[in-house]
Amino acid sequence: MIEPIKKLIELKDKILEKINEAADEKTLKSVQEQDLSKKSSLSGMMSLISSLSGEDKITFGQAMNSTKKEIQEKFADKEKEIHEKAIKERLEKEKIDISLPGTTYKMGGINPFYQIVDEMIDVFTSMGYQVKEGPDVETDFFNFERMNIPANHPAREMQDSFYITNSTLLRTHTSPAQAHAMDEANGRPLKIICPGKCFRRDDDDATHSHQFGQIEGLVIDKNINLGNLKATLELFLRRMFGEKREVRFRSSYFPFTEPSVEVDISCMECHGKGCPMCKGTGYIEILGAGMVHPNVLEMSGYDPKEYSGFAFGIGIERVAMLRYGVDDIRKFYQGDVRFIEQFTRK
Ligand code: DAH
Repeated sequence: MIEPIKKLIELKDKILEKINEAADEKTLKSVQEQDLSKKSSLSGMMSLISSLSGEDKITFGQAMNSTKKEIQEKFADKEKEIHEKAIKERLEKEKIDISLPGTTYKMGGINPFYQIVDEMIDVFTSMGYQVKEGPDVETDFFNFERMNIPANHPAREMQDSFYITNSTLLRTHTSPAQAHAMDEANGRPLKIICPGKCFRRDDDDATHSHQFGQIEGLVIDKNINLGNLKATLELFLRRMFGEKREVRFRSSYFPFTEPSVEVDISCMECHGKGCPMCKGTGYIEILGAGMVHPNVLEMSGYDPKEYSGFAFGIGIERVAMLRYGVDDIRKFYQGDVRFIEQFTRK
């Protein structure tokens, strides 16, 4: 082998080794400047050609070309390798560790009391009722007088309350909201429900609480009769407690309605046969209702000869307790997550 080719091979091996050892872009760049540029050691080799003649010139020229090509290829491979390594390192460094547990938020739930309120409002608004609310703090006048319960009326006994002054109290039922709505309606027909809080001086036990919820209903128009009341309440009760419920009207007494009824549904446990849940009667009392008393209509600006109406009052907790099988009214107010969670829709 001719001397210049031996030198060329030696140089090539050295350059290839340098390229091979370059670990980053900077080192590779300096190899390029030193060994691959026009002023490089490799280009310098070209001058050796002048000392050769004939065949050797050709052989050396060819060797020179293939060496350049080999080194350039090696260089390009290395450049690619370093670039890919850099990207990989960057990705590695910027990787988000998704194995870390995220921040969890404990979701609350809607108290079953309000779930039932929403459901009842849905049923009545679907029948065309408007929702009106009355104040929690009432005057004696609205709470009692306007509901046909004058001073010294025995019905007051059952509705002792928390008095703010001699004549203002926390309302004992939602019925006074009827009077406010009638005043506002100014003699026009009405079809409303009034959900809200009520208060009584009661000893708290499994079925009584000093604060509880009611939904009051009132319809006033010409030719409203007991049949309308019955149809309305049957529809409502079957929506709430199932289509199979028997609905029973028992005559009763409320000062603000005449006639008055108490409404029962057939027991969902025994379907009317009699069991401990319905105390052997087959029925469960669910609400009070009746035809609006002429005195109430008159006090509210309606002529009882022209207008008639029906009203009803539903205990919200009672409905919720029956629907969800809750055995103690106090559970609705204690804010115990173990209770609330059982009614959270997932
Ligand atoms: N206000 C009654 C109560 O709290 C419930 C009631 C009964 C309301 C009959 C009515 C009704 O509107 O017609 O005991």
